[in-house]
Amino acid sequence: MSVEPRRFLPLLTSHRTGRSAVTCEYRCGNACAHPAPNQSDNEYFGDVVKNVVSRRGALKASAVLTASAAGFAALSGTATAAPPPHAGKPGRPGKPGKPVPGTDFDAVAPNTADAVVIPDGYEQNVVIRWGDAVLPGAPKFDFHRQTASAQAKQFGYNNDFVGLIPQDPLNWRNLLVVNHEYTTETDMFPADQYDPENPTEEQVRIAIAAHGLSVVQAVRDPRGGLRVVPSRYNRRITGETEFEVRGPAAGSDYLKTSADPTGRKVLGTQNNCAGGVTPWGTVLSGEENFNQYFANASSVTDPVVAKRLSRYGLSGGATTRKWERYDDRWDVAKEPNEVNRFGWVVEIDPNDPHSKPVKHTALGRFKHEAANIKITKDGRVAVYSGDDERFDYIYKFVSKGRYKKGKSAHARRHNMALLDEGTLYVARFEGNSPAEEIDGTGTLPSDGEFDGTGKWIPLASGNESYVDGFTAEEVYIFTRLAADTVGATKMDRPEDIEPNPVNGRIYAALTNNSDRGAAGKPGADEVNPRNGNRNGHILEWEEKRGDAAATTFEWRLLLVCGDPATADTYFGGFPKDQVSPISCPDNVAFDRHGNLWISTDGNALGANDGLFSVPVDGPNRGQVKQFLTVPVGAETCGPVVTDDLVLVAVQHPGEGAGAAEPESHWPDGGKANPRPAIVSVWRKGRFHSGRIGIR
Ligand code: FEO
Ligand code: CA
Ligand code: CA
Repeated sequence: MSVEPRRFLPLLTSHRTGRSAVTCEYRCGNACAHPAPNQSDNEYFGDVVKNVVSRRGALKASAVLTASAAGFAALSGTATAAPPPHAGKPGRPGKPGKPVPGTDFDAVAPNTADAVVIPDGYEQNVVIRWGDAVLPGAPKFDFHRQTASAQAKQFGYNNDFVGLIPQDPLNWRNLLVVNHEYTTETDMFPADQYDPENPTEEQVRIAIAAHGLSVVQAVRDPRGGLRVVPSRYNRRITGETEFEVRGPAAGSDYLKTSADPTGRKVLGTQNNCAGGVTPWGTVLSGEENFNQYFANASSVTDPVVAKRLSRYGLSGGATTRKWERYDDRWDVAKEPNEVNRFGWVVEIDPNDPHSKPVKHTALGRFKHEAANIKITKDGRVAVYSGDDERFDYIYKFVSKGRYKKGKSAHARRHNMALLDEGTLYVARFEGNSPAEEIDGTGTLPSDGEFDGTGKWIPLASGNESYVDGFTAEEVYIFTRLAADTVGATKMDRPEDIEPNPVNGRIYAALTNNSDRGAAGKPGADEVNPRNGNRNGHILEWEEKRGDAAATTFEWRLLLVCGDPATADTYFGGFPKDQVSPISCPDNVAFDRHGNLWISTDGNALGANDGLFSVPVDGPNRGQVKQFLTVPVGAETCGPVVTDDLVLVAVQHPGEGAGAAEPESHWPDGGKANPRPAIVSVWRKGRFHSGRIGIR
């Protein structure tokens, strides 16, 4: 069957709309409760549209659209691989066609179950959960007797990104790389042990050890699914593991601290969110809401330093977790440069458990989401990354050197240096519809699409800055401030960004932005077309000539998310009574057919978060179908979709209720406290018994 019609999927009314207050506190330091850090007078897109449209008029605008739509379709034919047989013009669906390979399953209805709910005919298992053994000697997890030394050998908390790297052609053995974005101490410690006002030093050390990443070897179980095995590859990277700082800002005075006068050695990685697997088999991971770990920004009096801190969301005194009580490096009044050592893309080589992880300064410093790579036409690598904050920007890095194919040690060394030097760009979007047609309600303009063109504005290249008033090292370390000055477009919280390996276009999730159009804030524009955007949208673009090195592109919105029964939503032109409701898109992935898979964070429609598939070409473009839902209070992260396996990270199940009376008991059941975990889903039956989304 195709998707269940919307009328049979009534939305649930729940007390939980969007994230819980506790999620906001621990995950992003209550970002939405504070003013958006981008207070720059950087011209916003509404002004750009007014200028463009006043020059060419409405009639001309529609002529531009026709040309651009034709160009878009033509460009999509120049993609890196042949389009699938069902491919058609994006955004021009005809009648719904037969189910697209990879998406032929019975959609899961919205629900508030304390379970991972999957389609009929599929099975699931928990691959690994918080506290499970990663390293030899890890003690059995005991919720009531946690220690820092145990946690440093166990799977960390709040799994987010998932990378699956096959080690053989049958995907029998794989390296599973997972990051642990943040800790929620009021859920992870028994209530009678944890006083949020007075955490013990051991509890702080446990939390630091629960951050970072885990690498484990995972084998296919003959009964289906993935199973973690003891292996020499298994590794924990924590908030105290040593990283090497590389690229043009390595050794900068802004990165020197009393513990590291070289500015090249950082202990730990924090708040790792969306990431990516490189073509050379390493994992990139974005450090996101690092600001919340640093105390006492309010005591900084130097106006230049205070402005830099404020632009990165640092304000106030004590932090929620109070790590600053036990180590000065978390206190900006005592160790002012430590904060500049976070907010980077980090690279981990899971193939070598003894390799030193790297922080890449050439990719800029902001609240990084994702680092996914597309090879340019001349063999260099382009890395796409979003800055997840209301009214922040989308970035691209293009390397100077070229990618070397092959798995030799020489090729690996060469490729692992590619991100050391290149050009960092920020995106500017322009629409092609008259400004008066973009009224903030989400109503489509008369040309039928939210779409237009864009350009990549260079910020710095190697040691050369293109931004007035900024040295190159300042561009890399204070990237947000540099981007403010060049006319970058303020977006609705850019999350994951990923190139489609089949059609060559790039897809970005814009999660939401409740401040869009609020008093004194930027209003709707064609690329962020709804004021008070609670449900988010999905953006796609095609680089000129399909080349990731291009500095111009054409874009359009694939989805304007929310309740399909309301007028402010858009599903790529697909009939809205035949799609699943979707809210707050966050992480994205592709299957081998080129279908987009979207996981959500903070469903504002009252149901649990989920994982959705959507074809992006042909007559079924925009046919959103819910593949699974995660337990109450949880967020769906890190989707990986292979031919016969789907992996998701279930992050913060039951978050917000506290450890004394947990709202979720997943995955252990009974009266157990919830534990973040990785789940694999496969077609009912044995290993390789069936393909995902193919009947
Ligand atoms: Fe960690 Fe932007 O979600
Ligand atoms: Ca338009
Ligand atoms: Ca996320």
